[in-house]
Amino acid sequence: MSRANTKLPFRIALLLAAILGTTQAQAADSHSRDQADIARSVDASIEQLAMEISPAERNAIVSAIESAREISRVAHQHNSPKYGEHYRRDAHAKATGCLRAEFEVNGDIPEQFQHSVFATPGHSYQAWIRFSNGDMLVQPDGKGDARGMAVKLLGAEGAVIAPELGGDVSPDAVNQDFIMTNTPAFFNRNIFDYAENMQHLAKLDRKGWFINLWPPRLHLKEMFRAYQTVSSTIETPLAEQYFSMLPYRLGDTTVKFSSRPCPAADYTTSVDKTADDFLTRQMADTLQAGSACFEFMLQPRPADASEKEMPLDDATVIWDEDAAPFVPVARIHIPPQTFTGEAQQEFCENLSMNPWRGVGQWEPVGSLNRARRLVYHAVSEFRHHQNSAPVREPANWCVPGADEPCTPQQGLNIHKPTWPLPRCFDGFFRPLDGSAASSQCTGDYGEILAERDAGY
Ligand code: HEM
Repeated sequence: MSRANTKLPFRIALLLAAILGTTQAQAADSHSRDQADIARSVDASIEQLAMEISPAERNAIVSAIESAREISRVAHQHNSPKYGEHYRRDAHAKATGCLRAEFEVNGDIPEQFQHSVFATPGHSYQAWIRFSNGDMLVQPDGKGDARGMAVKLLGAEGAVIAPELGGDVSPDAVNQDFIMTNTPAFFNRNIFDYAENMQHLAKLDRKGWFINLWPPRLHLKEMFRAYQTVSSTIETPLAEQYFSMLPYRLGDTTVKFSSRPCPAADYTTSVDKTADDFLTRQMADTLQAGSACFEFMLQPRPADASEKEMPLDDATVIWDEDAAPFVPVARIHIPPQTFTGEAQQEFCENLSMNPWRGVGQWEPVGSLNRARRLVYHAVSEFRHHQNSAPVREPANWCVPGADEPCTPQQGLNIHKPTWPLPRCFDGFFRPLDGSAASSQCTGDYGEILAERDAGY
């Protein structure tokens, strides 16, 4: 090799190092620009929304949003293109189905709860429910994971509590969201723990915050809660009980909420449980001709409850149900329906849930909930922006771009006869006066009805 040639690998190495160095410097540069943007927009929101937040809490929120964005990027590399090119939620990334539902306030709802969407006993709302798996990665449904149930009530009435969430397509589209998972307690006490934990998660380090040799760290109770959360394997999302985990203020009462399958509900089906999407298939099978139902319940915190027994800002503590029993206040009916079409799945991905979307005397409580007002909004805007998708609030049960026309029956598997029924007589019928029977149908009556029903 000539002298010039011996230097070549060295020069290439230098060049590569320079390029890599520049790329790293550029990446670091754009990262710090992102950080500055996030911090600026958090400060603007805190000021605009007149939120009472300490500087430490503000820093934790900024950090949580930075981590959420990083998680979204890291997860995108894992999820895409195998599960689609689009950016997903950084939590609860995989939907197992978005279903049409009705949310009917009980006629006998106690007076202390008659506020916000519960103001009118017997009132019924159309709703959308997004069932999900909790992980940031899209995983087979059989893998242990938290399971989410996010309910969006359509056409709520009253003063909007977080107008910045917007996204309305029509002035009628004022909605209220109830966001729950199938464990009663969270794996972080408050926003400070959460923000630190997320920094680990953004590096796909799932254990680092809970247990670590150096620096030494052991968060035993939280580790147990995290284990409970991620180890849940289920048969169908329709048979789980879901919890808000965090408290809310309704009128003068502080409550947690939960939805539980109606008594005697049985959704056993024979779907192959090894399929990656068996939970979706299971629900599709159940709802092909059957329906499902949940009781929606509130757990009022007694006025004399201690901060230790029923804390307002420690989400790892389960409020004792003997001291504060859950009270059923509404019913969620899920009618027979088909929900697996492509347009509906896209609609489902583009929905935005936020614990602060609500009306009237309703207020999420505690530092985690305060952070969620900004974090959910920021994450939703980020993924909609990345996907060039419009941020829209649904006003009804119609799915934009679906094959079926937008009628109240869209997507439902409900076969109701048209009215008036056709006048059909079989060949033996003779009116008493001997006149001719003017049947509106030809052929066999049973066949005609079957044919007509198949048309729905
Ligand atoms: C402790 C109570 C919590 C519950 C019950 C809960 C439950 C859920 C559920 C069910 C979803 C999916 C929503 C959907 O289907 O669109 C979700 C999404 C999300 N959660 Fe939570 N979560 C909790 C706490 C938190 C906290 C404390 C944060 C951060 C401060 C957080 C950050 C997020 C984010 C960023 C999303 C994605 C939002 C979007 O892109 O639209 N969660 N959560």
